Amino acid sequence: MTGRMHTPAGFWHMYIKAQQNREWMVTEMSNGSSSNRGNQSGGGDKKQQQLDQYRISNIGKPMTTNQGRKISNDSETLKAGVRGPSLHEDYHFLEKMTHFNREEIPERVVHARGYSAYGEFECYESLRDVTKACFLQEAGMKTPVTVRFSTVQGPKGSMDTARDLRCWGTKFYTEEGNYDLTMIDMPVLINQDPMKFPDVMHAYQQKQDDGIPTATGAHDRFWDYVANNPESIHMVMWIMSDRGILKNYRVMEAWSINTYLFVNEEGVATFVRFVWKPVLGVHSLLQDEAQKIGGIDPDYHRRDLREAIDKGAFPEYELGIQLIPMEDEFKFDFDVLDPAKFWPEEVVPVQLVGKLTLNRNIDNYFTESEQVAFNPANVVPGIGFSNDPVLQGRLLAYRDTQHHRLGSGNYDELPINRSICPFHNNQRRGYMRMRIDVDQVNYHNNSLAGNTPHTTPPEEGGYVHYPKKVEGHVIRGRSPSFNDIYSQPRIFWNSLTPIEKQHTIEAFSYQLGRVKSESVRQQNADLLVNIDQGLAYTVAKNIGVEQPEGTHVDVSTSYPSLSQFNTPRYAATQKVGILIGNGFDAQEVANVMNTLSQNGVFIVGIGETLSPVTASDGSTLKVDQTFLTYSPYLVDALYVVGGNFNNPEKARFDIAEYIQVAYKHYKPIGIGKTGGSFIQFGENNNLAGVVFAANNPAFGEEFVEAVAQHRFWDRK
Ligand code: HEM
Repeated sequence: MTGRMHTPAGFWHMYIKAQQNREWMVTEMSNGSSSNRGNQSGGGDKKQQQLDQYRISNIGKPMTTNQGRKISNDSETLKAGVRGPSLHEDYHFLEKMTHFNREEIPERVVHARGYSAYGEFECYESLRDVTKACFLQEAGMKTPVTVRFSTVQGPKGSMDTARDLRCWGTKFYTEEGNYDLTMIDMPVLINQDPMKFPDVMHAYQQKQDDGIPTATGAHDRFWDYVANNPESIHMVMWIMSDRGILKNYRVMEAWSINTYLFVNEEGVATFVRFVWKPVLGVHSLLQDEAQKIGGIDPDYHRRDLREAIDKGAFPEYELGIQLIPMEDEFKFDFDVLDPAKFWPEEVVPVQLVGKLTLNRNIDNYFTESEQVAFNPANVVPGIGFSNDPVLQGRLLAYRDTQHHRLGSGNYDELPINRSICPFHNNQRRGYMRMRIDVDQVNYHNNSLAGNTPHTTPPEEGGYVHYPKKVEGHVIRGRSPSFNDIYSQPRIFWNSLTPIEKQHTIEAFSYQLGRVKSESVRQQNADLLVNIDQGLAYTVAKNIGVEQPEGTHVDVSTSYPSLSQFNTPRYAATQKVGILIGNGFDAQEVANVMNTLSQNGVFIVGIGETLSPVTASDGSTLKVDQTFLTYSPYLVDALYVVGGNFNNPEKARFDIAEYIQVAYKHYKPIGIGKTGGSFIQFGENNNLAGVVFAANNPAFGEEFVEAVAQHRFWDRK
């Protein structure tokens, strides 16, 4: 088996090439680069060229006030004598202090916690037959983008690994204006009408008395909402599954949930839903890992994303579309407009139409991530809106909340939000207007400016809304075709493997087990019986309530695409912790590190101290972390080199903890020749995924194969 097999075909070439160019002599363990930006997007990236005009480095420059006056003292305020009162004349202090006082802006009301990067989208093939969207017209066409990944429940300072849904905004800076594709890492929404969104968020987010939880999940009000708004159980099933504890943003699958329209040059519309498919597959943490990592490294997901881009292991995702012709609108056993239902891939196939590569980190969290504003209403000609009621509500919500959050309707002028094509209209005032419109005619129609800025006919690129036929009585109501709320959650349950089911049961038992109200616990067990009787019975027992009456809906369908077990797995970018002391076998370690590196594996050398370790042949090796600074929860696999330590008892204890955590979480473990004495497996231990170097010339390859499997579920 060649090393290449553990990297996605054709991908990671940049990262691996970078590694092959390194000297893998035993001098340095980490395989990260020290760049803080990743690769630049290249001269052709119009957005980066535009942003360059706003990028300022202050290094080496004299300090000035905002007016440009040079500052002679930035440490002491102006006083009447060094022990005297401060003086009003100190405008420099006023400017510095008052700016600091206002440095925070309102958090997003949802998605407050998130992180961004830049990248490039490349179209695989022309989609001209279904849409005239400019960035999907030619194979090979490239569009610069920025993305922001986020959680929903917690405030800005909460932890990344909370059990939650995760969202993903992509802003395509196209030649015909910005297109914002907004996605969630589950294909269904918790509400079927936008009127319910404030309610579900009130129930999901912090309580008004104690401000709890800040993204730790369980509380009575949320589960009270679920039981009393049963359409929510579908998304809740996904949140309680492994999907709710995403491993990192690089392995996040995401769906548009809402149904949009593609419209072609002939004016023919097609229903469309979008999906992002991560090239590395879709992976999750275990509940125990997610909880522990949340404390050890609350910034786990953003750190991971940044580090991968820095190392040149650029995250890649393929864009999929699912199309339903308008004439087939009523041919399915779900309503195509219902955002609480998925379109099964097995029924509506996914066509992969392009690839997104994230290749550049941001420099400034505030201006590039906090100020970015995504809006599903930002579309380009060729993309339109279906009557999906939630989408219709969202078209109103975003501009309003962003106007509030960013303080002015002029937020489109902020560098991160600015389109790469020019924009002209008659909206010219408001807080923080940045451009200077020099022409005097700011109304339409006019004769003084030749009726400009002018409108553009559709055939020349002017946006027109698809002329869908609308009829009906004015009514507040929900379509009866949305009413089958249990069949799809049952299909999702049917599609999970026994391990995934076990995890889901544990998640329900943990979350509901912390609910104080027995009545709310009971109501949720009663709700779950509609999905699966066995699930409901086990959870009911675990949370101390009566066995619910009734049974699940009579649906036996299952779809392989819904289980994460059918996802690709690679060794590439898995993080291997090398536990190492003095006196190791230099040849073995160099060979293993080379093999890992050639397969794109991330390596973290972990020692007793940060001082280099010395091999039996006298060569030395730098380590990246110590047993104190790094945690066993942060690695995906272990290579136990062992050796001699200054404090052998403590080192033995630390290494034992690493091995115990890795073993308990089903992770691959490689045991070096000098590592054997650190391991004590009992008679009942199943050694699946444990690879030994002793008398094993193929140790490196076998270990990489184990790393590529990620977890060994058959361990006891
Ligand atoms: C009734 C339904 C929904 C409402 C009212 C709603 C509301 C909001 C609000 C208020 C924001 C914050 C915007 C900001 O401050 O910049 C937001 C952001 C966002 N929403 Fe929604 N949302 C809904 C459903 C959805 C759905 C179905 C998706 C995707 C499938 C989605 C994806 C996003 C994304 C990606 C963001 C951007 C987060 C960021 O800036 O990083 N939302 N939404």
